[in-house]
Amino acid sequence: MGKLDGKVAIITGSTSGMGRETAYLFAKEGAKVVITGRNEERSKEAVQKIKDAGGEAIYVLVDMTDLKQVENIFDETIKAYGTVDILYNNAGMLSTKNTLDIELEEFLNVFNVNVNAALVLTKKCAPVMKEKGKGVIINTGSVAGTSARWGSVAYCSSKHAMSGLTKAFARELGPEIRCNAILPGAIQTAMLDSVGGADAMEPMRQMSPLKTLGEGLDIANTALFLASDESRFITGQLLRVDGGIDC
Ligand SMILES: NC(=O)c1ccc[n+]([C@@H]2O[C@H](COP(=O)([O-])OP(=O)(O)OC[C@H]3O[C@@H](n4cnc5c(N)ncnc54)[C@H](OP(=O)(O)O)[C@@H]3O)[C@@H](O)[C@H]2O)c1
Repeated sequence: MGKLDGKVAIITGSTSGMGRETAYLFAKEGAKVVITGRNEERSKEAVQKIKDAGGEAIYVLVDMTDLKQVENIFDETIKAYGTVDILYNNAGMLSTKNTLDIELEEFLNVFNVNVNAALVLTKKCAPVMKEKGKGVIINTGSVAGTSARWGSVAYCSSKHAMSGLTKAFARELGPEIRCNAILPGAIQTAMLDSVGGADAMEPMRQMSPLKTLGEGLDIANTALFLASDESRFITGQLLRVDGGIDC
């Protein structure tokens, strides 16, 4: 028996990185998974891999900088599976511009992908979950959402916002729905590669008591715990998964 047998899970940003690892793990644990992102090739590959392993999945292509496209994820999920039990707001856009250099358009795009899409999807999914009497929302924040020492103005403030969103969702959507956030540290994914990969993160690795960087599966295992009944008494929490770095 899987820990998520019969559940329907939307995982945004699941065409690569930690979202894709989570999609594979949730499917292995019995969930029907909705893969989302912009890249069709990687979407198809992820769905195929899940089906080859005996699981169920669909994909929905969406560019979340355009919020009008986001509701389509919910609509396609209901069309395919009739319901939704788990929403993992994980898609993320990095920006490395500082306050004086960033254009407003880039700032707004980062907020659309990292924060506003989560609100749009939650507003669609939460009523279904409340009607069922049960549901789980997981948000992806970041250790960059706990201080301004890491990341730049748009990314850092969007991840701070994700922490606030998590606490508000938990307060406002209970008792039927639990909502928690995962705050990853340096996890080896395409996003990390885009800012220099493991080499650039060497100072963080050294800072970590565990002397290692994280992998997608470290986040997927945490998401599984938060999505399953094993965490039934936990809501409104910001869980750092960062190897113990102190920043
Ligand atoms: N890696 C780290 O060290 C780290 C640390 C802290 C927090 N995070 C957060 O973790 C989450 C996952 O990131 P990751 O590290 O797994 O990176 P990743 O491998 O680059 O994955 C990012 C995912 O987000 C999707 N995405 C990005 N922009 C999108 C857009 N405009 N519309 C729709 N989907 C979009 C991508 O899909 P497509 O490419 O198909 O569009 C992809 O599936 C993000 O929220 C990120 O901010 C990462």
